[in-house]
Order: sequence, then C-alpha cells, then structure tokens
Amino acid sequence: MIKNNKFKKMFPMLENIVYLDSAALAQKPLSVIEAGVEFYSKFSISTRTSDSKIGILVQQKVDLVREKIAKLIDAKSDEIIFSSGTTESINFFSLMAKQFLKEDDEILLSYYNHSSNIVPWMQIAKELKLKIVFSKNILKDINEKTKLICYSQVTNNLNQNFNSDEIYKKAKENNAIVLNDAAQAIAHEKVTFKNSDVVVFSANKMYGPTGLGVLAIKNKILKNINPVFFGGGAVEKIESSNDWVSKKGVSAFEPGTPNLAAIWQFEKSIDLINEIKIENIHELNLELSKYLYDQLLTIKDIKIASKRGDFITLFNIKNYASQDIASYLGHKDIYVRSGNFCSKLIPLVEDENDYVRVSLAFYNDKSDIDKLIQALKEGGDFLSFL
Ligand SMILES: Cc1ncc(COP(=O)(O)O)c(C=O)c1O
Repeated sequence: MIKNNKFKKMFPMLENIVYLDSAALAQKPLSVIEAGVEFYSKFSISTRTSDSKIGILVQQKVDLVREKIAKLIDAKSDEIIFSSGTTESINFFSLMAKQFLKEDDEILLSYYNHSSNIVPWMQIAKELKLKIVFSKNILKDINEKTKLICYSQVTNNLNQNFNSDEIYKKAKENNAIVLNDAAQAIAHEKVTFKNSDVVVFSANKMYGPTGLGVLAIKNKILKNINPVFFGGGAVEKIESSNDWVSKKGVSAFEPGTPNLAAIWQFEKSIDLINEIKIENIHELNLELSKYLYDQLLTIKDIKIASKRGDFITLFNIKNYASQDIASYLGHKDIYVRSGNFCSKLIPLVEDENDYVRVSLAFYNDKSDIDKLIQALKEGGDFLSFL
C-alpha cells in the first residue's frame, strides 16, 4: 500500500490540503506550472508571427504537442484539433455532425453521460428532428438505426465498466460513429482510436492547464466535414464578398489565436503520464480505491453506491445531506464533491439523487484516505447538528 506517495511532492497544491476531487480538476505538477512561467517569460510570441526566431519555435512546439497527443491515443497529428475543453469539443463536433445526420437518425446516449455529452445532442436533435435514445446498456441498444453513439469510457459518476472494444465492434457492424468522452478515462487508463472514431478530453483533468482541450476525429470522417467556426488563421483567401477558401488540414478548424501558454504547459503533463506510464497510474489508483472502499465501510450508516476498486467512489451517510458532508470536509481542507456531478439523468436510473464523491489520482496516498476517514468519524458538532 502506498504510504508515502513519491509523486505527491511534485504537486505544490497538495502540500496543505487533502485533495480528493481530481475528477473535477486534477492538480498540476511543478513542471506544468513552470512551463507557464517559461512561456510567458521567454516564448510569448504568436504563431502568426511565424517569420521570427521565437515565432518559429512556438509553432514547432504546437506541432510537437499535437504529435504527442496523437501518439497518446493512437491517432495522427492531422486528426487532432485543439479546443478549450471537453465541453467545447463535444459542442464543436455536434455542429459538425449536422453535416451528416438527418431526420429520424438515432443518437444513442448513456444515462450516465455528463450533461456536456447530452445537451449539445438534444439541441441538434431538436434542430434536425433526430431521435435521442437514452440507454442503460449501450452495447445492447446499438441497432441499424443508430448513427452516433456518445458515451464515456470512464464516467464521472457510477462506473459502468463499458466494454469499449465490443461497443466499437457492434457500432461498425451497424455503420455508426462512436464518440468517446474520455474526460475521465484519459487520466487513468488507455484511450485509443482503435475503439472510437471521435475522442474528446480536457487537459485540465490530466494534470494540465485549464482552458485547453482536444477534439480528435478520424481522418476518414474529418475529410468529409467542413469547418463550423471561422476566422483568422483558418482562411486561405477571401475570394468575393460572400465566398472564401479554407486552409487545408486541421488549421481550417482552429480559427483565432490558440491557447499557446496552455499548449506549452500541456506538453509537460503528457510527458509526466508517459514517464509514469498509464498502466502504472491505473494500478496505483486501483489499489488506493480498494483501500478507500474498505475504510469507508467502517463508517457507521454509510451506503456506498460505487464498486470496490472504482476510482470514483460515491456514498451517502444516513440522515446527512451530501452537501453538508462535503461542506464539513471542505472546511477542514479535505476536498470532495457533493451532488450529481452534472450527470442530470442519473436520478432516472438510480435510487439516489445525489452523493458525496471521492475521486482519486495517482498523487493520492493512504494518508489522504486516513484523514478523510478520521474526519468522518470525528464528525462531531458539525455533522451532528441535524
Ligand atoms: C465525463 C465528463 N465529460 C465532460 C466533462 C466536462 O469537462 P470540461 O468541464 O473540462 O469541459 C466532465 C467534467 O467533469 C466529465 O467528467
């Protein structure tokens, strides 16, 4: 069992707090923080200023980071589009999907999807008169009418243990496109184009900067899609008062100045994941999640909704509102979440409406769990005010 996690000291925020909310925002290692300072103090030149010494270096870095992201998910560089985060990536792809979806097509969504992977599809369904099918069992519900499947390999709520390979196989037998919202999975396990056509995630949840995300689309789909956002850097020429020519490749999909500082920082978080290796991160989380589960069982009147080994653990304690528990812990600098975590359809398929959520990362250790358990046991005045 990890008593003193050697990774923890790389993360300055963890010096003074017990951080158990990595599913919402992952902490940043010093290397990522320092890369921000490095960019702004030495490389703060636009990629548009491409005829300069530093401008060339910045463009090279953007290309390199794009390559590293592609490699991480078994994609190619020209399949990687930068966005501001998972939410923007899904909205972005939903606008693109208007070019190939038509009336009566079906979009299959998991009840366990984050709102960011539900509402953009509802909006498109309204506009195009498509049918949304909500599912408790994605694999079972794929059929010949399904055109698009949007789910999360790892959810941010109750883990579903989706079999991504099987889902992809059945999707292809039915000519459907698979969008994997990998916002959670990307920080904990292998995410790959081998079992998805579109992959979206946020740098923020992979120990990287806020305000940066990825929309990865397989070339065979992207080559048939026209840009949906327009502006500087994405246009080759304006031909007449109402016509223009887009650039070729991913540039056509990235108008405006990219989040260069974040891209600069993101390289360091990808490097860290590659150094530690995603399989090791997964193992560390698994071991600690089991310890968390076993320790939580010692709390009186607890009801754990998650399974032993899920890296996100949801629970409730009889007679206490989840928000009161999160607030009590939060004021002791133990950071957890309460509520339904933007998973607004869960009440339709589960008994509970909201939970306390503990989400782990590879920088957590046994001492974090012990402090959580101790605080819950001490409960004392605050927790007994009800
Ligand atoms: C599964 C999932 N999808 C989408 C999102 C939205 O991510 P972001 O807020 O970075 O856009 C989250 C955030 O918690 C998530 O967990």
